[in-house]
Amino acid sequence: MSQSDVNKGRRRFLVGTTSAIGAVGAVGIATPFVASWKPSAKAKAAGAPVKVDVSKLETGQQMIVEWRGQPVWVVKRSKETLDNLTKISDQLSDPSSEKDQQPEYAQNAYRSIKPEIVVLLGICTHLGCSPTYRPELAPEDLGPEWVGGYFCPCHGSRFDLAGRVYKSVPAPINLLVPPYQYLSDNVILIGDDGGNA
Ligand code: FES
Repeated sequence: MSQSDVNKGRRRFLVGTTSAIGAVGAVGIATPFVASWKPSAKAKAAGAPVKVDVSKLETGQQMIVEWRGQPVWVVKRSKETLDNLTKISDQLSDPSSEKDQQPEYAQNAYRSIKPEIVVLLGICTHLGCSPTYRPELAPEDLGPEWVGGYFCPCHGSRFDLAGRVYKSVPAPINLLVPPYQYLSDNVILIGDDGGNA
């Protein structure tokens, strides 16, 4: 085996190890919240709304909640993230969310009821894979202009941290915002917006 073969093998190993740690980390963050609000099997089958307590969600953290058998992401965004969202409009396909695809209360600069908390359906609008949460700035694989967002591993679609789709990717529209409402300062009900869509 040549030295170059050895290096290639080592690179593959390192990439694999990093991905595995990333995946385990994400599950570790999400699990406590999901477990505490898990609806009964009967409620899930009926597509019942799901209550989520965001009081322990830290800035930059993402929770994954299951609603109607689909992942819903709840992310607490930093002030820096919110500022960055206003600077990348020219790179996005539908920056103002003008297409008919979401509730009215999400048709604003941050696509959310409260600016810091975004709620998104975690399903790619291309062919339905679940994109990966990539909140870091300018990672090597996503390039120097990356300000945090979601990357779909299936065909490379990119979304920002408001779920808005970038230009020139396969996904045709922004990630969907499910119906939701606040029951109190820190409790969100996903799946029912009280008719405010
Ligand atoms: S399913 Fe996401 S890019 Fe195709």
